[in-house]
Amino acid sequence: MTNSPTSKTRVVLLAAGHGKRMKSSKPKVLHEVLGRPILGRILQAVDALRIEHVYIIIGHEAGQVKEYVESNPPATTFSLHRQSPQLGTGHALQQVVPDLGDFHGTLLVSVADAPLLSGATLSNLLSNHRQQQSVVTLLTADVEDAKNYGRIVRDEKQQVSAIVEDKDCTAVQKTIREINTAIYCFEWPAIADGLKALKNENVQKEYYLTDIVGWAYEGKMKTGAVIAHDWRETAGINSRIELSEASKSLRDIAVRRLSLDCGVTVVDPESTWIGPDAKIGQDTTILPGCVLFGDLEIGSHCTIGPNTFINGRVTVGDRTSIIQSNVSNSIIGNDCRIGPFAHLRDNNNISNNVRIGNFVEIKQSAIAEKTNVSHLSYVGDANIGSRSNIGAGTIIANYDHTTKRKARTVIGDNASTGSNSVLVAPIMIGDGAVVAAGTVATKNVPAGALAVGRVRQENKEGWNRPKD
Ligand code: UD1
Ligand code: CA
Repeated sequence: MTNSPTSKTRVVLLAAGHGKRMKSSKPKVLHEVLGRPILGRILQAVDALRIEHVYIIIGHEAGQVKEYVESNPPATTFSLHRQSPQLGTGHALQQVVPDLGDFHGTLLVSVADAPLLSGATLSNLLSNHRQQQSVVTLLTADVEDAKNYGRIVRDEKQQVSAIVEDKDCTAVQKTIREINTAIYCFEWPAIADGLKALKNENVQKEYYLTDIVGWAYEGKMKTGAVIAHDWRETAGINSRIELSEASKSLRDIAVRRLSLDCGVTVVDPESTWIGPDAKIGQDTTILPGCVLFGDLEIGSHCTIGPNTFINGRVTVGDRTSIIQSNVSNSIIGNDCRIGPFAHLRDNNNISNNVRIGNFVEIKQSAIAEKTNVSHLSYVGDANIGSRSNIGAGTIIANYDHTTKRKARTVIGDNASTGSNSVLVAPIMIGDGAVVAAGTVATKNVPAGALAVGRVRQENKEGWNRPKD
């Protein structure tokens, strides 16, 4: 058997289970932890290993899981394998056997319901497995509450001799506090016979992958165990309570990193939900009530919140404030003031020194520097130049409901629109042009021109309300 540091490694993720305890029509692995599905988080950890292939076992609601993986593919080459019916974790691993061919190497097998798992922990397990030249290496965890995890049974020499599922434990075994994380390294094909020989003679009548450990021990194969440095990282999600505990743990890790390593003030960690992918610069303050998910990059000396939701791919420059607002998939420059109550929907590019004020919605638009959209406006599918002023209540009518098409609006530099004006797209407003208050502009406005398109005011002098 080859087991050198150069031996090949493939990962198998077991994601076919029903997840009954979630009480959901959605497969368990698609439930989100801080804005990303459990499966997406574990695939991120797998990607960090840079191994040659990941096999993903799907079964319950396979269509939904397949769709998710295919539209959010990992960097690692992957294949999906159906397990139907789902007869247990050992049966799940058996599904990849026909595809392993003459593979010789390490199979890193993991449950897919442990969203906090890091690439570093997997990599540590893998290097221990290789250094010790083991056939089986387990990742175990010491916990205070062993819940219904499988218990690690060790012999008098402290060698792991078996894993016993909670439901199959004796009263004494129930007191064991070292649990099975269900993350293992197996040498293939050394364990092939053990996998084939699994039986379902247990309380749940399932083919338990855990039984391979006892099989390897009985067969005097080399087995090892690595204890996880933080049990929270390996926690499996079985219920909605555990899902919210995992979100909390992940949030705590992110807040700690941002506070201690990055110099970010998180005023109230308990009411702040920051995902692990957020990059935030020094001396930025996150006020209470913020939800910051996705691939975020926020600069230094910013103020975010209170009550701000940022999601997706968002980049924010330095010294920008975003108060009580929603931002998704957008770029915001330096020294901007956003909110309160602004909504930056997808694909905006907001330059430096821009002010987006109260009750303003911006979508698919680029706004150049020093432009203000301060109050009560809708800006959709527009390019606005620099130093322009979009007056209160300006609406860009970008949608033609007869053709069902969106049209673009282009506004130049130093232009201004008056209060309550409507710009019917497609339309161009030239540099320095002015659109008067209350105008419904349906034609292009040349540079420097004034567009007035409203009913002319008539004053009736000396007019008195008729008496009844
Ligand atoms: C499993 C382990 C237990 C361990 C715990 C750690 C077994 C028998 N038990 O228990 O020792 O302490 O994880 O979290 O392995 N799955 C399939 N096909 C199936 C059944 C399950 O792919 O037929 C997948 C699930 O989608 C899930 C994972 O395997 O991602 C674990 O299944 P789950 O039912 O959650 O097992 P646990 O009871 O938590
Ligand atoms: Ca589980």
